[in-house]
Amino acid sequence: MSRFTVSGVSLPSGLFINNEWVPGRGERLQVVNPATEEQIAEIETASREDVDLAVAAARAAFESTWGTWVSGQERGQLLFKLADLVEQNIDELAVLERVDGGKPAGWARVDIEDTVACFRYFAGAADKIHGSVVEIDDQRKHAVLRKEPIGVVAQIVPWNYPLLMMAWKVAPALSAGCAIVFKAAEQTPLSTLRFAELVKEAGYPAGAFNVVNGVGAITGDALSRHLDIDKIAFTGSTATGRRIAVAAAESNLKKVTLELGGKSANIVFSGANLPEAAKWAAFGVYENMGQSCSAGSRVLVQESVYDEFVKLFVAAASAFKVGPTEDEDTFQGPQISKVQFDKILGLIEAGKAGGATCVLGGARHGTKGYFIQPTVFTDVDMSMRIAQEEIFGPVASIIKFKDEAEAIAIANKTEYGLAAALHTTDYNQVQRVTRRLKAGTVWVNQYVMVSHQIPFGGYKQSGWGRELGMEGLEPYLTTKSVHHYYDEEGFEWPIRLTKL
Ligand code: NAI
Ligand code: MG
Repeated sequence: MSRFTVSGVSLPSGLFINNEWVPGRGERLQVVNPATEEQIAEIETASREDVDLAVAAARAAFESTWGTWVSGQERGQLLFKLADLVEQNIDELAVLERVDGGKPAGWARVDIEDTVACFRYFAGAADKIHGSVVEIDDQRKHAVLRKEPIGVVAQIVPWNYPLLMMAWKVAPALSAGCAIVFKAAEQTPLSTLRFAELVKEAGYPAGAFNVVNGVGAITGDALSRHLDIDKIAFTGSTATGRRIAVAAAESNLKKVTLELGGKSANIVFSGANLPEAAKWAAFGVYENMGQSCSAGSRVLVQESVYDEFVKLFVAAASAFKVGPTEDEDTFQGPQISKVQFDKILGLIEAGKAGGATCVLGGARHGTKGYFIQPTVFTDVDMSMRIAQEEIFGPVASIIKFKDEAEAIAIANKTEYGLAAALHTTDYNQVQRVTRRLKAGTVWVNQYVMVSHQIPFGGYKQSGWGRELGMEGLEPYLTTKSVHHYYDEEGFEWPIRLTKL
């Protein structure tokens, strides 16, 4: 097996199948640091045949001991070991997230810390997975409802939180006892290579976890159409999620969970603590360069406090340091790629052309790297593209509303339903509004504080199913109803039939 080095971190080449590194027969993929626009590596990718090999390895592992006889306690111990290894290698992993994904150094570490916490949560859950017993009709019949791992699962993640999105999927799947074929995004494949080495070091049996990196149209498509994959879990764009659902339906009806896009509303009522609300709202849009599915990119502000809030919001947005990713105090690094950079600048132009007022930013930051200035639009209305489309960049659209009913109507007026937030000190208003928001997550007087303990997922076109929390295990489990019959006198006609 050959190796290569990126920013002092030694990485294995190839695909991780059956606990071995094997050559990938797909086209080689260039890996770029978005802060410098320079190529930092080239990796091997999986062809369709390579995907078959990985699925076969996962299937063999699942059908042997891993999916059937390994106890929850043993699965938990392995996951705790893996979490420890990720924690011990936080420096290397954070460097990879920084140079491959453009994450500021401090935020890259936060991602790894959250990754470790997620693994520990599902490690603790592994020996608490159990079914139940149901008595039927009388004492002679009962059913044991076994919770079994669903089988071989494919998991496809995007580039905005490479390791953390991996953890949200891999941790519950390994906790449940599934065998995994995993694909990182083509923009951020590096940290997964190092992670796979840690999986082997933790002592997982061959085939329990496999990595087939590659592009969506080939490797991702092969996974979503594969006939021997039982379930696919995806995070990414709504367009790709729809394609995966179709591919799953057209192939073997594998089960599908989708965590897709958003255009989340962050509602600021006149009764809010405005300085606090402005800080949360700015953090909610600009965190991770705006590349967050739950970004609160529509800030809805009540008329009576609109002008005051805009001033506070612009001040908060201006305080974020945009700069080199290696600086510990940098808040905002570059966008992930030239494609995203161009798309965001295009939407900023659409905002200006569409009649919104750009009161902050609105252009590239610097001359090298895909940096964009924190941008604020006011006078936005819901007919504009910047109010409807997921920008996935550091761009806030501030929208004015009159009263509570209008705020709810605007908040819900989108095809998405991932998240929403409201800021108010009126307790009754909190109750009225949270019940009516069509969103999988609602934050009250805060924004974007996701926890591995709490289910996360979307209403409407923001997705299918939930990840995280104990509910996050469910997509990786299936129920087998085992009927038992106890009667020493032997066979008995079912009553319904004797009456015929
Ligand atoms: P994407 O959804 O196409 O890519 C995400 C993942 O899906 C990658 O691993 C990719 O290889 C894979 N993929 C792509 N096509 C596939 C296919 N046909 N079958 C199976 N897998 C496939 O997102 P992309 O192009 O990187 O970004 C486009 C937009 O998507 C962004 O501007 C943003 O609006 C949204 N997005 C949302 C994310 C979220 O967290 N909800 C994350 C990333 C992007
Ligand atoms: Mg990259």
